[in-house]
Amino acid sequence: MVLIRMRGWLMTTQMLFATPTSDKGSAIGIPRPPTLLELASQLLSSDFRADSAIDWGKLPGLISKGTSAIATAYESEDSALLHDVHHALYMLQSAHFASPDDVAAASQFSPFTVALRSSMEDVMIDRMLSKLELDEAVDQLGSAIREQVRQHPAGAHRLFDHLEQRASVAEIRLFFESDARLNERFFDLLAMCLVGTSGTAKTELAANLWDEAGRGNNARGHVHLFSEALAAVGGREPTIESLASWEWQALAGHNLFVALCSNRKHTFRAMGLMAATELLDPPQYSKLIQGCRRVGLPVPEYYSEHVEIDVVHGSGWLDNVIAPLARSNPRAARHILEGVALRLESCRDYYDTLLRKLQSIGS
Ligand SMILES: [Fe+2]
Ligand SMILES: [Fe+2]
Repeated sequence: MVLIRMRGWLMTTQMLFATPTSDKGSAIGIPRPPTLLELASQLLSSDFRADSAIDWGKLPGLISKGTSAIATAYESEDSALLHDVHHALYMLQSAHFASPDDVAAASQFSPFTVALRSSMEDVMIDRMLSKLELDEAVDQLGSAIREQVRQHPAGAHRLFDHLEQRASVAEIRLFFESDARLNERFFDLLAMCLVGTSGTAKTELAANLWDEAGRGNNARGHVHLFSEALAAVGGREPTIESLASWEWQALAGHNLFVALCSNRKHTFRAMGLMAATELLDPPQYSKLIQGCRRVGLPVPEYYSEHVEIDVVHGSGWLDNVIAPLARSNPRAARHILEGVALRLESCRDYYDTLLRKLQSIGS
């Protein structure tokens, strides 16, 4: 039996996998199985130590629960189910960013957390890949990626036309709040991508990180600039509680980013995802800035900085990271293109949903 130390008390695997219900309707007190979100929360609130007494037989059941839940959610296209699974996965991934004195840090690499998180990430990625249609042979990878971004609906999305021409202050605030988590984690995600690179790729990523760090001036660091932009519109920082009100597409976009950047096996895809992000943002952020001016808001420096610098970063990723990678490893090209497409698809879903949400509060 696994012993899991939960904030000073011991928990068994039986307790982990069958949570007694507090439902009054359960007159005979039969424990109901925990939801995926409850399981994720329990794993993250546990100080797990692997030892010889562990009941490894519980692992297949855990993996099966996670994979069948996420597969069912995608098959049903049910927003509530998709929200549940992505909320649980978001929580499990948050262990990568936990403060060392947060109990969640102890479970970052516990076998049960890894098993549940990895299996769910694999299903999500396989599911998204199965829907992609990509050219098999690509000659000029850099120009093919630019074209891929330019032609995709996410590349010049109506969301940013709306922000430029019609959105109210309240809608712009909601956009900032919705964008917050990924913007504030981007520095760390980039740092994850840096590990294991070599040559010009390492230099390029280090230069990107230096820009993220405000080139040595914390007041110009991107995390700081974003916090200022959010505060300037009266926006709230994301919290564990606010996750419940996120659209599932926002959670899924975050989860895809973390899955690709934190897993070595997805490194080539992560490079494509990052390059797509740098290419996507400058023209769309220009429209957002025009929208801020139109409603009398100060120009958010976080976004104006990215209009300028992401043009440089976009070329840098293509020329100094992706081109050398594809030259030295021809098999990498396919994964890089997949990473670009995965980012574009998740952005399109997220932008579509966010536009509908903004229009609903604006009308
Ligand atoms: Fe940045
Ligand atoms: Fe950038």
